[in-house]
Amino acid sequence: MSTDSDHLPLVVVANRLPVELDEETGDWRAAPGGLVTAMESVLRDRKALWIGWTGEFSDESRDIPELPSSAGGLELDEVPLSRAEIEKYYEGCSNGAIWPLYHDAIVPPVYHRTQFECYRRVNEKFARRIAEVAPEGAQVWVHDYQLQLLPKMLRLLRPDLRIGFFLHIPFPPVEVFSQLPWRRQVLEGLLGADLVGFQTKEAALNFLRLVRRFVALRPGGDRVVVDELSGPRTVRVDAFPIGIRAKDFADLASDPVVQERAAQIREDLGSPDVLLLGIDRLDYTKGIDVRIRAVTELLQDNELDPEKTVFVQVATPSRENVEEYQRIRNDVELLVSRANGDLGGIGTTPIQYLHQTMSRTELVAMYCSADVMLVTPLRDGMNLVAKEYVACRVHEDGALVLSEFTGAANQLSDSWLVNPFDIDGMKRSITDAAHADPEELHRRMLALRHSVFEDDVERWATDFLNQLQS
Ligand code: ADP
Ligand code: G6P
Repeated sequence: MSTDSDHLPLVVVANRLPVELDEETGDWRAAPGGLVTAMESVLRDRKALWIGWTGEFSDESRDIPELPSSAGGLELDEVPLSRAEIEKYYEGCSNGAIWPLYHDAIVPPVYHRTQFECYRRVNEKFARRIAEVAPEGAQVWVHDYQLQLLPKMLRLLRPDLRIGFFLHIPFPPVEVFSQLPWRRQVLEGLLGADLVGFQTKEAALNFLRLVRRFVALRPGGDRVVVDELSGPRTVRVDAFPIGIRAKDFADLASDPVVQERAAQIREDLGSPDVLLLGIDRLDYTKGIDVRIRAVTELLQDNELDPEKTVFVQVATPSRENVEEYQRIRNDVELLVSRANGDLGGIGTTPIQYLHQTMSRTELVAMYCSADVMLVTPLRDGMNLVAKEYVACRVHEDGALVLSEFTGAANQLSDSWLVNPFDIDGMKRSITDAAHADPEELHRRMLALRHSVFEDDVERWATDFLNQLQS
């Protein structure tokens, strides 16, 4: 990646470091989720320091290999967090209150004052650590909803830094955000940055409206002027839709070994006429349950032939200590076993469910093997899986069924766009996609690929960092 600001030291800050412990092998591996996938690929060729949490509890010692001091060109620096901090700051405030609220309150957010107090303290801990290690005048790029108070705290400690903040998840409209008991603190925290970035224009507008309403500042266009002791300071607010490193996915997908593996997957599944695929973190925002219901009804009604169709759903384990995640796992597993019990036969399982994390190569082989990719979140900031599927379709075929409520829908409008709350509409789109003729598939996939390759993650990072510096 080359930016106008190549010479400046870069510090990336996210709740998670880009690595986590693999319980099976006992070694460090890439951490899950879109944030890490995107940033890891952007930073591979660039010197930077990444500050975050390892996924381990600092007050419980167990026999684990030492955290590598670097990954690729990246230096890693740990912010140690105790079990109590993780329970309140991460599982509680971040994932029990802010995550559901920002995803349209699909499940009810739960607000606890003690959890927010811990969220504040952990943000402060991050700020102090950055203040200690960031080189003079560095760019500090803060990521995501777990660290929204951090920009303001950091500015007070280190006014010399250029601070950028990017939110990977949606930012809700006034009517939804207003219920957050700590709305003012969050907005003021974000305004500590020089640049605040969102996935979509709508999210950026929501933020500007909320600033006007709750911070009593008057944004002018995409700028907010904040009065500080040292004088007025301008904060830029804009949309930066994130992409993927498309070429890497395409290169892997073109590898004959991966193509062979893709063919093998189809064979192992009984060489179905139609292979449907879902790949997600196991999260209630992803609409995995509605997707299973839709496919089950299609198989029941013979609109998709149960003997010639297989649906593979891969679900990465995620946030397993949070109650709503336990609930969605139970719901999904019940739906899958019911459908298979009703529709399967000896040796045939129409819905194959894999609750596991996969290697990049296996994931790409899965993308290459599938005729129809189902991406049906009820709300999603962007959704990289949709873009990865497109990048992997090197033969310019395959169909993408995509929820309107993802950020990706803005760029991938040549997919079959669906409203995941409308199960009949979704069923129609799935059958249309499964039965589309090769010319239509080709036409749509060409347009999708153009968009995914044009707006890739390097462009995203370059745009953000250049704007941060200017
Ligand atoms: P989110 O950030 O909410 O998890 P995204 O779709 O934006 O959703 O990003 C998910 C990332 O995690 C993608 O890069 C995808 O390849 C990766 N991923 C999803 N499921 C798995 C899995 N089972 N094994 C490995 N990686 C996965
Ligand atoms: C999404 C969020 C990230 C988060 C990732 C994985 O991509 O935007 O901030 O890191 O999910 O979730 P986890 O809670 O395991 O970090």
